[in-house]
Amino acid sequence: MNWNQPLEFIPGKVITLSTHLEKPSPFYFGYDIEKSFTAELEKYSFDKIFFFTEPHLFALYGKDLYLNICEKYRCELEFVPTGESCKYFPVLEETCEKLIEKGASKKSILLSFGGGTVGNIVGLVAGLIYRGIRFIEVPTSMTGQTDSTLSNKQAVNGKTGKNHFGVYHSPIFIWTDTKYLKTDPPTSRRSGIIEGVKNGFISDATFLDYLEATLHQDAKYTDEELYDLAYKIILSKLEILKRDPSEKTYGIILEYGHTFGHGIEWLEKGKMSHGEAVSFGMKIAAELCQELGLISQADVDRHYHVIENKLGFNNPFPKTITADKLMDAMIADNKKTGRDLRFVLLEKIGQCDNRQGDYLVTVDPVLVKQVVENFIQRQQVEQKTLVLA
Ligand SMILES: NC(=O)c1ccc[n+]([C@@H]2O[C@H](COP(=O)([O-])OP(=O)(O)OC[C@H]3O[C@@H](n4cnc5c(N)ncnc54)[C@H](O)[C@@H]3O)[C@@H](O)[C@H]2O)c1
Repeated sequence: MNWNQPLEFIPGKVITLSTHLEKPSPFYFGYDIEKSFTAELEKYSFDKIFFFTEPHLFALYGKDLYLNICEKYRCELEFVPTGESCKYFPVLEETCEKLIEKGASKKSILLSFGGGTVGNIVGLVAGLIYRGIRFIEVPTSMTGQTDSTLSNKQAVNGKTGKNHFGVYHSPIFIWTDTKYLKTDPPTSRRSGIIEGVKNGFISDATFLDYLEATLHQDAKYTDEELYDLAYKIILSKLEILKRDPSEKTYGIILEYGHTFGHGIEWLEKGKMSHGEAVSFGMKIAAELCQELGLISQADVDRHYHVIENKLGFNNPFPKTITADKLMDAMIADNKKTGRDLRFVLLEKIGQCDNRQGDYLVTVDPVLVKQVVENFIQRQQVEQKTLVLA
């Protein structure tokens, strides 16, 4: 793939892809493609659409799409709480019960219009009602468009960790319009792009070269640049999913930096985005790989350079997170797999370690804790130096 070849920017043109998952969904991509949406709906038979979004996203863009749908079909508007706060049991229960009261049937379709959080809660509600009804995802954030919709995992958070309760449920289609990315806040944009940076580190060094040359530290991009960038990040994930649609063998590499990242995100209790937590997680994972003799100091430095200088994720590490707290959070989170602390590790830039026949490698917790302690200590020294300067 020649990543440097720009995708021709044709507003209104719908590009058809597939998610390449075990239960694949059509993935429609374009800029300003709203007018074609109802034509796609015509392929399906249903009694009603329940349109879920956040109030500010409805005011920004959702209203146009909603009114378009209302012209031809029965459609009802529902709001969910903003951001991660919608991914909890009380919201799940309330939403499910409300839908039953409002007459949702097995023939109804739910539509999520928003970031990864709206997609996750609506996907889970759709997976549970009557043991599963259909849903459509219209992602509006960079993470939603390039990452969370390319996975059929729908979940809410539990008391001790992220995404503990959920189901695999695939949408009938995904509708990605990069026009919405214009107002995606910088942190949210970076959160989506970091997963692309990760895809470069784990599977394709040439994609990393492209991102390193293309990214802007201030996260400001033109419509054309966002269109090109989102498309290529999507392709970089699809290349991985084509090799493992289950995401359980080779696809596990997508979890690079996430063992640390999920722990950090959880400890920050909504104050830090998923993507920013993963950006710290990737830096610590790189340090761990170097400690294990897998990659060089130059490779570690490249993580810092791309994440901080190119992507612009350069906030200080939260002072409240200690090595002990992070280890406890990771162990709690790891109960999912019921095994020791396991990590995706790099063998070199663009390739993950699979010498034991598994892309999740068990690492001695004592060593992991040492790496985390060193990372936190260095961060604190850097912050002190910055204050003194
Ligand atoms: N299922 C998966 O495999 C998977 C993968 C990655 C992430 N996720 C989940 O996705 C969530 C993160 O998704 P996210 O980063 O999209 O977060 P999000 O849904 O909280 O959106 C981030 C913020 O951006 C706002 N926003 C979204 N689109 C906007 C737009 N076009 N203009 C202005 N504001 C906009 C939202 O209101 C929110 O405040 C996490 O819960 C994470 O666990 C799931």
